[in-house]
Amino acid sequence: MSNSNRLIIFDTTLRDGEQSPGASMTRDEKLRIARQLERLGVDVIEAGFAAASEGDFNAISEIARVIKHSTVCSLARAGEKDVRRAGEAISAAPSRRIHTFIATSPIHMEKKLRMSPDEVVARAEKAIRIALEYTDDVEFSAEDAVRSEMDFLVRIFEAAIRAGATTLNVPDTVGYATPGQWGEQMATLIERVEGSDEVVWSTHCHNDLGLAVANSLAAVRSGFRQVECTINGLGERAGNAALEEVVMATRTRSDIYGVETGIDATQIVPTSKLVSTITGYPVQPNKAIVGANAFAHESGIHQDGVLKHRETYEIMRAEDVGWSTNRLSLGKLSGRNAFRTRLVELGIELESEEALNDAFRRFKELADKKREIFDEDIQALVSEVYEDQIEAYRLVSLKVCSETGETPEATVVISVHGHEQSAKATGAGPVDAALAAIEKMVNSNANLQLYSVNNITSGTDAQGEVNVRLERGGRIVTGQGADVDIVIASARAYLNAVERLEHPPKRAHPQMGDV
Ligand code: KIV
Ligand code: ZN
Repeated sequence: MSNSNRLIIFDTTLRDGEQSPGASMTRDEKLRIARQLERLGVDVIEAGFAAASEGDFNAISEIARVIKHSTVCSLARAGEKDVRRAGEAISAAPSRRIHTFIATSPIHMEKKLRMSPDEVVARAEKAIRIALEYTDDVEFSAEDAVRSEMDFLVRIFEAAIRAGATTLNVPDTVGYATPGQWGEQMATLIERVEGSDEVVWSTHCHNDLGLAVANSLAAVRSGFRQVECTINGLGERAGNAALEEVVMATRTRSDIYGVETGIDATQIVPTSKLVSTITGYPVQPNKAIVGANAFAHESGIHQDGVLKHRETYEIMRAEDVGWSTNRLSLGKLSGRNAFRTRLVELGIELESEEALNDAFRRFKELADKKREIFDEDIQALVSEVYEDQIEAYRLVSLKVCSETGETPEATVVISVHGHEQSAKATGAGPVDAALAAIEKMVNSNANLQLYSVNNITSGTDAQGEVNVRLERGGRIVTGQGADVDIVIASARAYLNAVERLEHPPKRAHPQMGDV
């Protein structure tokens, strides 16, 4: 199979991406991302780790129910309970996969699993056999393969093939590999593992040294035909290989890689924006492909060259990756039907008529303040509808006095479980004053780790999207808020973060603790 030129794109934004601190998502948020990933054309959506919690199980089940074209996958440690849970969670999907894994490096086997190599192989074989009761599409990963011994990797992968695994994944779990060495190691595996041409070889690289994409591409050059990646490179610690970079590198340099993907590249930027809005992880402006400056030509020489002949400085076109899809969506006069139609086109399904009415009311309010409503505005507005349905803390009203030479003062009214409270505070600026007033009421005692504002679209009437990251007792959460008034957006983001701090999801981490 490694001779085929089709590169399978396995997206793990909803699983590894969600392991980024503070990036945990609700069921509805995961569904919105899954729908967009399907529209993007990813082959496999790793929807989560079913055994983590009831909530994770339900989110995967729901994704399995609605996704029709991509394969829906659940991660499972190599233990019977985990694998059965994964099998049940994905059962409704027309195309489904179980991804089971166990660590294979000496340090992980001795210190984390406290198992002998023989026991590890036996566990892997058993997990694969159980997984096959639920689907014939079973992936096996050797966690921490990068620090595993080659002979042991060959042994466990051969055992996995004999047990019936159809995809073998080689992860650089700690981001330690370098491209030349990784490429050679991957070629050695294909060469040495008996039966290697019966399976798809996959790699999953972390970005601790900034080499995740380079290492993934080196594996592709060695014959690997699946890359595991995430939107915007989200993921544990420094993240995973960025999907958009892997896809555009293989496409732009098909002379080097000789592979094709099923990705609709024009959906890359909308997907990046949606993931950033939902997770609260902003995209750095100079980030390849999806950063705001990725196609901006600042210097005079570059601008002159691009105007004369675009290819002087451009190797890709902005519109090919979806920058032009920053489309005017609706206007002040658009009615309820046009609004509903646009939601459907964007893959947004609101659960009830009440939620639709709420979203439409917000749309009208926004259209009164802002002449043009873009798709990104609609995505942000829908996020707010979902948040308000579940939140115990809600912003009721806010008044700020800010004047040259005077100390800004804010009066804020919030609703806490339906009861209104109000507080006043001063601050260095209007945002500082508003957040201080809220803190007086909610007493979170959290440390503010990050506060950032990004404009959702362009122009001075654009909505500001605020991200707030709070830390308390080692737990990190992010909150988001959007409004044309950034003080209001900030207050909403802060309340959203406090809410998440107070209601931690109870879930197990797949790579910590025992199987
Ligand atoms: O990084 C890793 O090793 C993983 C595995 C669970 C595939 O995420
Ligand atoms: Zn990982």
